[in-house]
Amino acid sequence: MNTIRDLDLSGKRVLVRVDFNVPMDTERNITDDIRIRMALPTINYILDKGAKLILCSHMGRPKGERVMDFSLAPAASHLAVILGLDVRLAPGCVGAESESLVAAMQPGEVIMLENLRFHKEETENDPVFAEQVARMADVYINDAFAVSHRVHASVVGIPKYVSEKAAGLLLQTEMDFFHKAMDTPVRPLVALVGGAKVSSKLGALENMLDKVDSMIIGGAMANTFLKSQGVDMGASKTEDDLLETAREFVAKAEGKGVKLYFPVDFVAADSFAANAVTKNVTFRDIPAGWMALDIGPASTVYFQEALTDARTIVWNGPMGAFEMDAFARGTMAMCQSVASSHALSITGGGDSNAAVKKSGESANISYMSTGGGAFLTLMEGKTLPGVEVLAA
Ligand code: 3PG
Repeated sequence: MNTIRDLDLSGKRVLVRVDFNVPMDTERNITDDIRIRMALPTINYILDKGAKLILCSHMGRPKGERVMDFSLAPAASHLAVILGLDVRLAPGCVGAESESLVAAMQPGEVIMLENLRFHKEETENDPVFAEQVARMADVYINDAFAVSHRVHASVVGIPKYVSEKAAGLLLQTEMDFFHKAMDTPVRPLVALVGGAKVSSKLGALENMLDKVDSMIIGGAMANTFLKSQGVDMGASKTEDDLLETAREFVAKAEGKGVKLYFPVDFVAADSFAANAVTKNVTFRDIPAGWMALDIGPASTVYFQEALTDARTIVWNGPMGAFEMDAFARGTMAMCQSVASSHALSITGGGDSNAAVKKSGESANISYMSTGGGAFLTLMEGKTLPGVEVLAA
């Protein structure tokens, strides 16, 4: 993969696709700026080289409408504070006004283009739109790992119209860590997979079977697997149309010699609510009408044992409804185990990263990916269109 270090940037207009799709509260204060901070190595590198830096990003899903709640203004101001530089927000990402702002730029200056998704052409990967944005740049850099699975104009269209293109330092780091963990892992490689649905992660689960030595499955998705093995899951969330698929998966794992770990006990609740009545039960004793909302203490120990010898851990998805304190213990315990492990540990996905953050263990995870959908796409064994195009 061509990277930014391979290019001569001095004095050039460098357009960087970043992912500043950061969470905000109702007053539009950024509540987590990690995606902005993770782009800083690339931003500083470009500025150090004496280039003109043009940033572009999406924010939310405004569906082609100019909805100011999705403006990148807070991200631009936040970046300006971090850099101690002026970061001017252009009114659009195409159009005469933005073009003349860029034309007047001096080396070392920073402009952020307004939300790409204010134009429906962005998500439609419209070539005319892509060419219009591309006109403002001499060099295109993709540093937006988290959106690199999307076939959008700023990801795959613009680079076709800019002669020099490369991966930014964040994209390179993300790809390197993933490659290290999944393609050339120090073994044993253990996957820790959770979250709500088997259906949304089936592709990843199947692909991982060919890569991992063992797999721990928790979260609501474990319910479907256990039900497929004849366990009465009470009123727990399950995907009954996938019971046969789940059975086949378990058989396939056995055939490949991949050990699967499922919960052996749960924190069960009489309703899906923070103030529900709860009790710890074994997998055989979920009361009728109750639901499993977290792994229980025995499962935690069992899963911790499975992680003990791991030299590489890939984690996607929480073990329970951790957003409610009553059901957070299992996920928090996994955060602690992964963090204290000597393995190379990689987490991806909004929920897993939020859980790690909540546990206070972020600094002890080898790498927390900025991607959700993009991370899952790689787990599925697929390539990212945004990375492919850089090689073209
Ligand atoms: C994300 O938050 O996962 C990325 O910014 C991609 O956003 P999208 O799912 O709206 O394309």
